[in-house]
Amino acid sequence: MTARIAVLASGGGSNLQALLDAIAAGQLDARIVGVFSDKPAAFALQRVSEPLRWSRTSKAYPSRAAFDADLADAVAAATPDWVVCAGYMRILGEAFVLRFRGRVLNIHPSLLPKYRGLDTHARALEAGDAEHGASVHFVIPELDAGAVIAQAPVPVLAGDTAESLAARVLQVEHRLLVHVARLAADGRLAEHEGVASVDGHPLFTPQRLEFAPA
Ligand code: GAR
Repeated sequence: MTARIAVLASGGGSNLQALLDAIAAGQLDARIVGVFSDKPAAFALQRVSEPLRWSRTSKAYPSRAAFDADLADAVAAATPDWVVCAGYMRILGEAFVLRFRGRVLNIHPSLLPKYRGLDTHARALEAGDAEHGASVHFVIPELDAGAVIAQAPVPVLAGDTAESLAARVLQVEHRLLVHVARLAADGRLAEHEGVASVDGHPLFTPQRLEFAPA
């Protein structure tokens, strides 16, 4: 059965577009049932038709919990099988995460557990890493700390800036996210007690996907 995916996004939504393109190409048996944003001006929202858009500015809410509760109700109303954070730049509170426990995925621009949080590209450059990349993981209340499902590395090149490195990582993010979304949509992905599994086999190390440069 076609999987129902809700997407949370705060920015341009190129990862959302990768999912939409894969669906349109028949490579992902899924339907985007809503795009949810904390940024009403986010271009990600424009990538789907108006009835699928939900956005609120968090400043209109008295607390993080109040915003998250509204967001969670809106997401639940779309009855998703999976919730995918694709460039969602607001920390999800525990109540949200527990409500959709085991069904929330996030794409993060680093080879986790390296560089949780922000400014991952600058931090990888500063550390002199030869390799950087992206990860898709299950979301748990602790930031960027849930079980990692798959990772895609990219080389750090001489002369890279945070921007050039981010652009190279973003290219592989699109393919990595489609890969993991397909595992989810096909019913092959699960999480149990903090361990991710594919086809019922626990992943003791994340899948590593080597994509040739585009
Ligand atoms: C992506 O690089 C994604 O990994 C990152 O934001 C960008 C969104 O791009 N997410 C995070 O940093 C989450 N902490 P997009 O809007 O074009 O998909």
